[in-house]
Amino acid sequence: METSRRLWLKKIGIGVAGIGFTNFNSFASAPASENLIPSFESDTNLIFLRSNENPYGPSPLARKSFVANANISNRYNWDIAEQLISDLAKKNNVKYENILLGAGSTEILDLVAKWVTLEKGNYVIADPSYDYWTATLDHLGLTKKKVPLTTEKKINLQAMLEAVNEDTKLVYICNPNNPTGTICERKALVEFVTKVSQNTIVLIDEAYLEFTKQQSLSSIINDNKNIIIAKTFSKMYGLAGARIGYAIANKTIIDNLANLQSNTNNSVSVLSKLAAIASLKDDTFISSCYSQNENVRQYTINELEKLNCECIYSNTNFIYFSIAKYKKDYFKQLEINRIQGGRIYEEEGQWTRITVGKMDEMIKFIKALK
Ligand SMILES: Cc1ncc(COP(=O)(O)O)c(C=O)c1O
Repeated sequence: METSRRLWLKKIGIGVAGIGFTNFNSFASAPASENLIPSFESDTNLIFLRSNENPYGPSPLARKSFVANANISNRYNWDIAEQLISDLAKKNNVKYENILLGAGSTEILDLVAKWVTLEKGNYVIADPSYDYWTATLDHLGLTKKKVPLTTEKKINLQAMLEAVNEDTKLVYICNPNNPTGTICERKALVEFVTKVSQNTIVLIDEAYLEFTKQQSLSSIINDNKNIIIAKTFSKMYGLAGARIGYAIANKTIIDNLANLQSNTNNSVSVLSKLAAIASLKDDTFISSCYSQNENVRQYTINELEKLNCECIYSNTNFIYFSIAKYKKDYFKQLEINRIQGGRIYEEEGQWTRITVGKMDEMIKFIKALK
């Protein structure tokens, strides 16, 4: 077998006796970029603990799906979106009309940003929270109202409530919160959302909810006309590079967001949609990722604490911790050991974030800090 093909097989994670070979052969014989494969290979020396990806993913069923379905990439196959939306509606116990697909949840957040800024005013967000998408809100003219977390690094729902006024167009809650990994108690969150969504749009980002036992707020979208839930396949489902996410909301909101998405439900490739459909069936993979993440996270927290790093209890696949009392130059240690970690979020207290990788990666991470 030619080297580039072997490398490619290794890359996508199947052996020579991989599945779906009839379809796969027609894909592999297509002209490949010889340059791309070695450059991807060279990156495997790095340890990626920066972006909260799933180190075990994609799931075996998703991998099979990518390989088996590559040969239909020449067609638009719009109907695959319908299949995925039906599956998602079933999974989340909502109707077909309550779902909108996006290229990652980033596209959903972006559509929400564009929609809510049709009227000017302000938006309310915890600080620090996930804000890589909020530049659109700023550029389109909303004023940012940042609400500090509590001393336990939790979202301060009472303070968020107090920050809302008649000009508030959007309230964003990341639950669990990125970068802190803290979670809102569900009853308090439902109360908060029910109250605030009377007058303003509330966007709940559940990117990491699968790492917890908490139930999604999807169950309340039809009683609360102004709630949008953003979900992603990038984290627990291990499909970050496949770019697939979705919104759950009542029909009117979904229609409004869809009006801003030229190729409604089809910004995501057929391969990604089929991989998502397959992933939803792979319960074994999900429960294995869940428990491995818990074990490795606990190991990492224990070791970080031995190194004088205060850790916040995490409900996610990342850990928020302080390097204020750490003896060495943290970022230098990461750099010389070829580890990509997170940045500093709060200067005061020197809080940073690390993704929970595989056990061997976290052993290397801890060794690098010692
Ligand atoms: C809280 C949160 N929301 C949304 C995203 C965007 O994810 P994606 O666009 O890959 O679905 C991320 C990615 O890190 C995230 O942490």
